[in-house]
Amino acid sequence: MPDLLAVYGSPRKGGNSSVLLDYFLEGASRSSYSIDRIFLRDIELFPCTECGRCAKTGSCVIQDDMEPLYDKLLQYERMVLSCPVFFLGPPAVTKAFIDRGQALWIRKYILGIKPGIQGVQKKGFLLSVGGFKGSDNIFACTRSIVKAIYSTCGFKYAGELLFSGIDHIGDIKKRKGVRDIAVKAGYEFVIQNYNIQHL
Ligand SMILES: Cc1cc2nc3c(=O)[nH]c(=O)nc-3n(C[C@H](O)[C@H](O)[C@H](O)COP(=O)(O)O)c2cc1C
Repeated sequence: MPDLLAVYGSPRKGGNSSVLLDYFLEGASRSSYSIDRIFLRDIELFPCTECGRCAKTGSCVIQDDMEPLYDKLLQYERMVLSCPVFFLGPPAVTKAFIDRGQALWIRKYILGIKPGIQGVQKKGFLLSVGGFKGSDNIFACTRSIVKAIYSTCGFKYAGELLFSGIDHIGDIKKRKGVRDIAVKAGYEFVIQNYNIQHL
């Protein structure tokens, strides 16, 4: 059974990006994919200190809950990350997770170990929400950062759903059509190619 890594990237429990990811996974669960949900706010995750110890091995020496995630980032066929925009980028807990990907960056770009799975096109998807209204630009930094980690792990950036003007807890549930769009996107992401949409 192929695996989908679903990463909840907000520090706020039950927040807008979590609801959005739940909708997306409702769609993805209508496939044969096995869904592995990771709540970054609930795990022990220390930030990268640039100690340099991964530079020769491609392995991180920090012992925390990131350890089993490295294999998942390398082995899973699909990944979806959902996070809010905080000061134009991902929140600290998500950025810490991404920065810990440095060990995988070393593997790919210094040690020359390709992150892909033989015969499989790995794909990644981004879900995000931001409080500011009416501008797609609020997602530009988050998109670039997420593209960088996806590329490091061998995931092709295959789609995104981005909602601006979503601020207070529960706002995403009030936005008409979001649920249907996200459920459909989740299904299509694991079944076929998905076209990028800006909403
Ligand atoms: C520290 C902080 C920084 C934020 N910075 C931005 C921002 O730069 N742009 C924006 O559109 N919204 C910003 N927001 C609003 C959040 O993106 C918004 O409340 C979002 O719905 C939170 O999603 P969540 O419920 O999944 O945590 C910020 C919120 C916080 C707490």
